[in-house]
Amino acid sequence: MKFAKPIYLTGCLFPFGILATTSSGCGKTPSIIKPGINTMVINNKTREWILTLPDNYNNTKSHRVIFGLHWWTGTMTDVANDGVIQPYYGLQSLSDNNAIFIAPNGLVADGRSGWANSGGEDIQFIQEIVKTVDEELCVDENLRFSVGFSYGAAMSYSVACTLGKQFRAVAALSGGPLSGCEGGTDPVAYYGQHGVVDSVLPIALGRQLRDTFVKNNGCTSQQPSEPASGSKTHIVTKYAGCSTGKPVWWTAFDGDHTPTPADTGANKTSTYTGTAVWDFFSQFT
Ligand SMILES: *[C@@H]1O[C@H](CO)[C@@H](O)[C@H](O)[C@H]1NC(C)=O
Ligand SMILES: *[C@@H]1O[C@H](CO)[C@@H](O)[C@H](O)[C@H]1NC(C)=O
Ligand SMILES: *[C@@H]1O[C@H](CO)[C@@H](O)[C@H](O)[C@H]1NC(C)=O
Repeated sequence: MKFAKPIYLTGCLFPFGILATTSSGCGKTPSIIKPGINTMVINNKTREWILTLPDNYNNTKSHRVIFGLHWWTGTMTDVANDGVIQPYYGLQSLSDNNAIFIAPNGLVADGRSGWANSGGEDIQFIQEIVKTVDEELCVDENLRFSVGFSYGAAMSYSVACTLGKQFRAVAALSGGPLSGCEGGTDPVAYYGQHGVVDSVLPIALGRQLRDTFVKNNGCTSQQPSEPASGSKTHIVTKYAGCSTGKPVWWTAFDGDHTPTPADTGANKTSTYTGTAVWDFFSQFT
């Protein structure tokens, strides 16, 4: 599926009046940030994030940017490395070396890291990374994405609520409303995925997040079919009637709180999470 590409004024004006969505970092050699761990101070706290560049990064080609947000008790390293789920929720291996990946680290509270987003400080952190990355790397400003599981899904939802003009699409895997929703009125392409017997964040919470964007995106309201517990299946619903370029997809699976659902049971090797999210994100060009 292809969507008409809106023309945004981004300060990048080419000869003959052609406007593009390429960032100011195009053609530059990064001087502040580097692949691996970077830091910045936000709200008087030192924040860390991992930058993963494609092999043979080309600074004259504009790249899509994908944020991978970790779950409660997880870290940026769990997302960037091949841990609980493949690097960047399985998207890195599917991106054909054409995407810049970013794994920010949440703040630790009670010894566990998450995305409480107190006073909007985590949104501010994401926003500052966006700004720095745009200035230092060659980015397609029309192709920014965020994906996360659990607390990382909550934060991706919050990103869609607050930074919807800067993010093209988000994917919330087994999320709930834990990181707030400042703003929350912009249409943003939305992929939701949730287990029907989630014992940590019940599926009703995932439906609630989804329905914000069913409404914002002007989709036709419906109650998607969900698989029965014990069926070892999943059902994907693509909402009808959504505004152009603002689809909503919903995957309900037979399973508990997991980023790696599979029709054989939660299973990292056979999960469809990566391909499902990549199918959703890669439709935008
Ligand atoms: C920032 O942190 C430093 C070191 O902990 C402290 O001295 C300073 O007062 C803090 N500034 C603000 C504005 O909170
Ligand atoms: C870098 O990207 C530009 C623009 O897409 C392309 O013309 C050029 O061939 C690329 N350079 C290399 C070394 O691939
Ligand atoms: C996990 O998936 C692999 C590959 O599809 C399969 O061989 C294996 O049996 C599965 N394990 C479980 C516990 O379902």
